[in-house]
Amino acid sequence: MDYLITGGLGFIGSTFIKYLLNKDVDSRVIVLDSLTYAGSLENLQGFLNQDSIIYPQRHEELKNIVVHSNGSGLAKSIVGLAECDKRIEKKLANCIVRRPHDGNIADDINEIFGGPSYYGRGASRLAIVIGSVCDRSLVSNLLPMCDLVVNFAAETHVDRSIMNPDEFIKTDVYGTYVLLEAAKKQDTLKKFVHISTDEVYGVATEKSFSEIDPISPRNPYSASKAAADRLVYSYNQTYGLPINIVRPSNNFGPNQYPEKLIPVMIIKALNDERLPVYGDGKQIRDWLFVGDTVEAIDLIVHNGTIGEVYNIAGRNERENIMVIKEILTRLGKPETLINYVKDRPGHDRRYSLDDSKIRFQLGFKGSNSFESNLRDTIDWYVQNRKWWQKILDEDIEYRKFMEQWYKDRK
Ligand code: DAU
Repeated sequence: MDYLITGGLGFIGSTFIKYLLNKDVDSRVIVLDSLTYAGSLENLQGFLNQDSIIYPQRHEELKNIVVHSNGSGLAKSIVGLAECDKRIEKKLANCIVRRPHDGNIADDINEIFGGPSYYGRGASRLAIVIGSVCDRSLVSNLLPMCDLVVNFAAETHVDRSIMNPDEFIKTDVYGTYVLLEAAKKQDTLKKFVHISTDEVYGVATEKSFSEIDPISPRNPYSASKAAADRLVYSYNQTYGLPINIVRPSNNFGPNQYPEKLIPVMIIKALNDERLPVYGDGKQIRDWLFVGDTVEAIDLIVHNGTIGEVYNIAGRNERENIMVIKEILTRLGKPETLINYVKDRPGHDRRYSLDDSKIRFQLGFKGSNSFESNLRDTIDWYVQNRKWWQKILDEDIEYRKFMEQWYKDRK
């Protein structure tokens, strides 16, 4: 099977790719990722050949590129990075990058998949295309090359959506629309699997939501995800597109970008900084280990009934403050680091999912051991300081966001 996986350099997308490539030796993956602040090639370390990255030329200013000549036939499409957009350039430092014109993307992908590679290391099963899901021409070039689409591409951080909803509407709503339009034209496409979220249901005051409950999103992030979720459904009902929609609860695990609750608290505790707890800290989230999420998505890709929505729950509902205290205990840090701050506006008090459907219909089990998965996650951040320290030190966008957002919470 050939997959197009959008947002594959992010936290859940990259975990899914690693799971897939390990499990399914016949699968090949084309990643489409715009390498925003939250994406990283390091998330796919060990799976990436150095010449498997394609960064198509489109911008006027990129026309006069210097071609590195090394005597190989590939040289004309592999160039140095000086021409790349600054943010992407930084993230692609030390990589060799293919720079085809739009129409040649298929050639480069075939070369990567067909090998022998530039370095003679043999074919790869992973090709990374740097670009946006909002780019119609790029997306329409990629769709015919795959049997399955899994759409992880999204802006995902609620706090950022409160400060600046713009990117959320663009990527989450318009980007999904662009993908759907291209998918609609692809008769051979087996399935379009869209990753939505439990946040579309809104606050779970009394019960746990099942897939037939109405949606009621309450912040710009969840509203944009709800729009995309229903757009995907509409393409099934209107055009017969073979789809599944996946609504997972709060994910955690290694490689999660340090803006979400668990990595923020681990890193602040490790640095003996105060831990900003919104409001009274008694909001409830259902914690789902990322390893369980990707297993469930794989089940849905292969066995999910076309047109259906599937919830994925962790069955680990905890008050935020309980999770934070557990992190402090594991790290041997004092509770005096806890700092109750001004609440997030429109803060959903509780998320809760009924996931009987995926468990009974598809046999999903889940590891269901929050405490040990949390311990492993904490240990990963302890052992992989280099991964997150780089973000803290070098990502100006990250520093700006953290300073501004938490300054307003004092
Ligand atoms: O429920 C699934 C969703 O979970 C995903 O769709 C979203 O992409 C993801 O961002 C997440 O949304 P949350 O808002 O629940 O996650 P976050 O990690 O931002 O916050 C979890 C809880 O912790 C929430 O009640 C807010 C609180 N919190 C968070 C941060 C970052 C704090 O009290 N302090 C903090 O500094």
